[in-house]
Amino acid sequence: MLSWDELETKCKECTGCTLYATRTNVVFGTGNRDSELLFVGEGPGEQEDLSGEPFVGRAGRLLDDMLKIIGLDRTRNIYIANTIKCRPPGNRDPSAAEQEACLGWLRAQYLLIKPKIVVCLGRIAAAELIGGDFKISRDHGKWYDKDGVGFMALYHPSALLRDPNRRPETFCDLKELERAIKERCSNTY
Ligand code: URA
Repeated sequence: MLSWDELETKCKECTGCTLYATRTNVVFGTGNRDSELLFVGEGPGEQEDLSGEPFVGRAGRLLDDMLKIIGLDRTRNIYIANTIKCRPPGNRDPSAAEQEACLGWLRAQYLLIKPKIVVCLGRIAAAELIGGDFKISRDHGKWYDKDGVGFMALYHPSALLRDPNRRPETFCDLKELERAIKERCSNTY
């Protein structure tokens, strides 16, 4: 198994799908590599492509506010990655082939982190990681167990920017997440 640094170096050289040709930076992931909590978004947007960091635009600022409500902080106690590491041009949804080509990087991150809880941000991450006929408007905030790891999806922060009416439901989901963290994770939270 590769170390974190080896994995990051290899990922940043990836040419596994055509997105490498249009990217500025590979957005590998950020946060505490010893965390028990893995947050997974969809893929980099323009700001993330330019900076090489996940969730740095408006959606990222909202995500930081959401995390703060339950005492989480990307620099301290969570790790954030995306299902795909390179920006699809024009912010289109990633294709199935691009997701498939990229999944190995996230899988390797998952094996290194060994999370107790995985939070999918939005429908694309939830469809990929939780699967089934996942429907974000119906299934957000619910727990799915996979080999003892708890998976849950929240509305994507971009969706909450577009439709603030969904924020109260997300607040309830965050409080449920806070409760589960206390139950499942060590006392560093
Ligand atoms: N949206 C995502 O899903 N991921 C990012 O890194 C930024 C925006």
